[in-house]
Amino acid sequence: MKNVLVTGGAGFIGSNFIRQIIKNEKELRVYNYDALTYAGNLDSLADIAGDPRYQFIQGNICDPEQVASALREHQIDTIVHFAAESHVDRSILGPRQFIETNVMGTFTLLDAARQYWLTEQTFPKESVRFHHVSTDEVFGSLKPGEPAWTEETPYAPNSPYAASKAASDHLVRSYGHTYGLPFTITNCSNNYGPFQFPEKLIPVIILNALEGKPLPVYGDGQQVRDWLHVEDHCEAIHLVLTKGATGSTYNIGGENQPANLSIVETICDILDEIAPSPEHRPRRDLIQFVKDRPGHDRRYDMDTTKISGELGWRPRHTLQQGLLDTVHWYLSHPEWVASIRQKQEYKGWMDANYKSR
Ligand code: NAD
Ligand code: DAU
Repeated sequence: MKNVLVTGGAGFIGSNFIRQIIKNEKELRVYNYDALTYAGNLDSLADIAGDPRYQFIQGNICDPEQVASALREHQIDTIVHFAAESHVDRSILGPRQFIETNVMGTFTLLDAARQYWLTEQTFPKESVRFHHVSTDEVFGSLKPGEPAWTEETPYAPNSPYAASKAASDHLVRSYGHTYGLPFTITNCSNNYGPFQFPEKLIPVIILNALEGKPLPVYGDGQQVRDWLHVEDHCEAIHLVLTKGATGSTYNIGGENQPANLSIVETICDILDEIAPSPEHRPRRDLIQFVKDRPGHDRRYDMDTTKISGELGWRPRHTLQQGLLDTVHWYLSHPEWVASIRQKQEYKGWMDANYKSR
């Protein structure tokens, strides 16, 4: 790894990943390739923007010429592919963009990498890698008592988002099988932590609770996710990049499976403790059960035996501490939050998703 192209590096996980590898890999140059959609935010990388080993490139993964010239100009030998449309609710209200970005965008990147690395034989094959960041949602939904998903579990995606990610995983695998493109894939569970866009459950709840607004819980709130701190996810990706077997996939998960309602209640209790509001105490009173997400997956659970056994990875954060740190982070970054929430696109999305619930 010398010149790494990180797609979607201005998003939640990508920005945390870039911060981490700039700090830990002193020989690397990191190119953040991002289209800056509604979810992209360069403020999330303000602290490393001036680092001579970091460069931002505004580019779209669906544009073959732009992608090819970024690879060539910067002699990219490693691609870490985060860029995607990532919000399940948006995929339900507008699936087309998910197919375009997640399927066609991944295809475009793969094909550019094949041309630059394999057809033109720019580098020895052992020194290039396409790492694809994917999700546990490709496996569908678990019933109570069913065992956790392993890397061998058949795909059964339920939402347009999950289906588009499953399609992209299959494309990556096919480029490995057919053309010999060196790849790895990670399928990870729900992330939380600093810089998460305030459309996802945890930041929505923190910010609404802080302001005494209703806390929207879909359905009965008994859906279960496998929560992982974003820094633990980024460490796992780094390990797979440096020590993972080419052509392999690895499941990543947090070993934390509380129901959504319990996550919401925990956030309420944390805020009652660290930012008490006489007007809204207890904040649990703000919880409102609202119309469920169509096709809502009930339970996710990742079996992480492979990555812990082969690579020695384990999450470092407990959920209780991680949530506390995350609440503190949102409280201490009001400008970051305000710059997103004042945008018309964001207000429009929140209206579209919540007004009719
Ligand atoms: P995000 O929505 O916060 O960020 C996505 C980033 O991709 C943004 O910076 C956006 O500008 C960029 N982008 C979107 N379309 C693009 C395009 N056409 N060209 C270039 N850049 C584009 O997403 P996230 O939550 O950080 O997720 C990152 C990746 O991790 C995604 O592939 C997602 O499927 C996967 N993932 C996310 C989670 C999670 O809990 N958030 C869990 C597992 C896997
Ligand atoms: O599992 C990994 C996936 O986790 C990633 O692939 C996705 O990119 C990421 O967005 C996330 O998907 P979820 O749909 O699980 O995340 P979200 O934060 O949107 O919702 C978490 C749970 O909370 C889910 O069961 C729906 C519920 N929910 C969500 C919102 C936004 C609510 O009850 N109320 C809400 O307002």
